[in-house]
Amino acid sequence: MRAAQHFIAPSLLSADFARLGEEVRNVLAAGADWIHFDVMDNHYVPNLTFGPMVCEALRKHAVKPDGSPAVIDVHLMVQPVDSLAQAFCRAGADMVTFHPDASAHVDRTLQVIKGEGKQAGLVFNPATPLDVLEWVIDKVDMVLLMSVNPGFGGQSFIPSALKKLQKARELIAKSGRDIRLEIDGGVKVDNIREIAAAGADTFVAGSAIFGKPDYKAVIDAMRAELAKA
Ligand code: DX5
Ligand code: ZN
Repeated sequence: MRAAQHFIAPSLLSADFARLGEEVRNVLAAGADWIHFDVMDNHYVPNLTFGPMVCEALRKHAVKPDGSPAVIDVHLMVQPVDSLAQAFCRAGADMVTFHPDASAHVDRTLQVIKGEGKQAGLVFNPATPLDVLEWVIDKVDMVLLMSVNPGFGGQSFIPSALKKLQKARELIAKSGRDIRLEIDGGVKVDNIREIAAAGADTFVAGSAIFGKPDYKAVIDAMRAELAKA
């Protein structure tokens, strides 16, 4: 078993879109581990964000203070999935996740991403069962559980996600594979400890970080809570 290491992945959805490169650099300087990049198509979800060209432009800014590249974690909320998944792999994404209910052929979409040499993950909405995971768990690098309905930042954490995290954690343990378990939606300093205790190891936070003037203060406070989990 992998030693649990907690990663914090600020979501650019709540960043200042007019200063994205600077926001990426600032949040990594403040101690973030990954950059979470929410792709919305105004079809699968009722909102529209950014495409592969923006990801490619940000790639050179996604560098940690020690000079190493930071993981760009692309969360696709799009339908269909395959062509955009491939485009993001080629635009500098390291991890590409998609919603299985948005793909006609989940196994094929995973193959598209893995075939590009990138990490792949499945995303489950609050009311979507984990069933498909059983059949492709040998091919996924991450499971992302939504703790809000996708489409917008700043929503409240849906508590049933805690039970689902426990269930996903059991499935991952049973697989014996090194699969990250990410949570997305309504993650704050005051609930991150409970979320980690339920099994999450990777934490997306948009409004909690970009909504505050001091990113480092928030990330430090999150890490202090995680240390107690
Ligand atoms: C919602 C997005 C999230 C969003 C989270 O569809 O997937 O990544 O940015 O925002 P907060 O942390 O504000 O709930
Ligand atoms: Zn997201």
